[in-house]
Formats: sequence, C-alpha cells, structure tokens
Amino acid sequence: ASTLGAAAAEKGRYFGAAVAANRLGEAPYASTLNTEFNSVTPENEMKWDATERTRGTFTFGSADQIVNHAQSRGMKVRGHTLVWHSQLPGWVAGLGTADLRSAMNNHITQVMRHYRGKIHSWDVVNEAFQDGSSGALRSSPFRDKLGSGFIEEAFRTARAADPAAKLCYNDYNTDGINAKSNAVYNLVRDFKSRGVPIDCVGFQSHFNSASPVPSDYRANLQRFADLGVDVQITELDIEGSGTAQANSYGNVVRACLAVSRCTGITVWGVTDKYSWRPSGTPLLFDGNYNKKPAYHAVLTALGGS
Ligand code: G3I
Repeated sequence: ASTLGAAAAEKGRYFGAAVAANRLGEAPYASTLNTEFNSVTPENEMKWDATERTRGTFTFGSADQIVNHAQSRGMKVRGHTLVWHSQLPGWVAGLGTADLRSAMNNHITQVMRHYRGKIHSWDVVNEAFQDGSSGALRSSPFRDKLGSGFIEEAFRTARAADPAAKLCYNDYNTDGINAKSNAVYNLVRDFKSRGVPIDCVGFQSHFNSASPVPSDYRANLQRFADLGVDVQITELDIEGSGTAQANSYGNVVRACLAVSRCTGITVWGVTDKYSWRPSGTPLLFDGNYNKKPAYHAVLTALGGS
C-alpha cells in the first residue's frame, strides 16, 4: 500500500488525522487528507463550547461538515470530546449540582444521538486526572460538584445514547507507565470489574524533547489491552525534525502494531502549517504539504512503501 490509511488497513487498523472544518476548503489540505487518511477527528468542532455554547441550544454545523466530508469518502470518525474541563462554556461552571448533573447527561445524550451510528469511538471523558504523582482527579466543575462518580455516570449515559459506539477514556502523559497512567489503569480495572461500560482508552501521545516516546510505551498499551479494552493513539504529534523525529514516529507505530488491541492511530493535524503547537513542526507533512522523513518512517513501519 502506498498511503497511510491503506497500509494501516492492511494491518487491520485505521490511520487518522485531526481536522479543522475551516481548512477543508484549502485544496492541498483536503487532497492530503483524502488521499492519506481513513479516519478523522474534529479538532475542536465537537467540543462543548462548539456544540452547546448556550444551554439547551445545540449547534452542529462545523462538526457536521467534517462528518459529511468523512462519510462521503468512506472515512471513519472519532468523536472528541463530551466531558472535559476545557473549552467548556461559562454557563456550565455556574450551575448547581442537580442542574450540572442534568446538563452533563443531556449534553452527552444530545450530541451522541445527533451522530448515532456515525462515530466509531467517542472520547466520553477527556483529561480527568491530575498530572504528577497524586493519581487524583483534577479539579473541574464535574469533579467538584458531582464527585468522582461523574466519570461512571458519563459512561453509563453514553452507552444508552449510542450503544454501537466504542466509549473511550482519553488522556495525556499516560503514554508510559507512571503514576498518572496507573490512576487511569485503576479506573478502567474498576469499571471492568463492576460492569461499568468502557471499551477503549485513548493515549494522546503529544511528545517533545521534555516528554519523549517512553521506552515502556508498548508495555503500557499492552497492560491496558490486557484489561479487556481496545487502545488507540489519539492525538499523536512529536516535536522535532529529520531522522530523530522519523525514528520516534516509527517507534510509535511499531508499538501499536505489537499490541493486537491497538486499533488505530490518529495524528493531531494534517500539516505543520496548522499544528496547535504554533511554531512547531510535529506532524507528517510540512507546511507545504510535502511528505517529511517522519511520513516515510510511518508508512514503512505500517508495511507500506
Ligand atoms: O473559536 C475561536 C475563534 O472564534 C477565534 O476566532 C479564534 C482566534 O484565535 O480562536 C478560536 O478558538 C481557538 C480554538 O482552538 C479553535 O481554533 C482557541 O483560541 C484555541 O485555544 C483552541 O485550541 C485548541 C486547544 O485544543 C484548546 O484546548 C487546539 O486547536 C486543539 O488542537 C487542542 O486540542 C487538544 C485536545 O482537544 C485535547 N488534548 C490536547 C490537545 C492539544 O492541546
């Protein structure tokens, strides 16, 4: 296979990119996306501040644009994200406990129903844990008012809203074995033992020189898979350039392929031109949509050429 998506498909995986609706009209952006990738994640368009900026008023225009683009080309869609402390409209933090509970459940239900049958995996809860050694949940309107049970409640509501979608917990700095990933591991183990619905764990995998690809990356993916969930690399990008960056990308792909329940990889953008890291070059295509060494390393690791 000669594209990322086709090569990944031969390995039984998808290879996706985060996409911004307002870039789809840029011809080389769209053609790179359409040629190389077979899954998309809306980078911002499905977040709470985009879909329910005003309580009870749902707006799906730009997310629909991405979903329609993907569906008409046979690409899969990852949903990102339903319950997150960031990009949360101000009205949510102003609610009392009972109102917040019903707003959270209504948000999950309305957004998932709108896309029912169209999303292969949803990031139901994103980034709920603190960084560092505490293993604790971070402060957010959800944790502070609903308690730690908000995660379980969100997953139960999500299962009811779209029973066919895989329900994921997604986080960063959980790529290696460390206190934060241990905390997520314990959550998933607890959910599995009590029958709380959860199908997958997303590992964002934002890497840079201070936070490189961990040496126990594969082992960490495997220990989650051994709990009986799929694992996905959901927001991959790696700062750097040239051979070093290419080698790191290759390592990530090989780690995923070594874990049978690692079902797919998403890079967090199509081109360096529009990366969320403003001055960085962390992606597979440069600002002119040329294939970088990292691209060739990924294609080779996937068995393509
Ligand atoms: O929507 C406004 C727009 O109205 C305004 O004109 C424009 C002017 O700057 O800003 C727009 O909002 C920006 C939004 O992206 C859409 O472009 C925000 O300022 C900006 O903060 C936001 O950044 C996003 C970031 O999440 C916010 O937390 C990045 O694009 C997005 O790549 C990033 O993605 C996150 C994942 O969702 C979760 N994991 C970490 C990852 C990287 O930070």
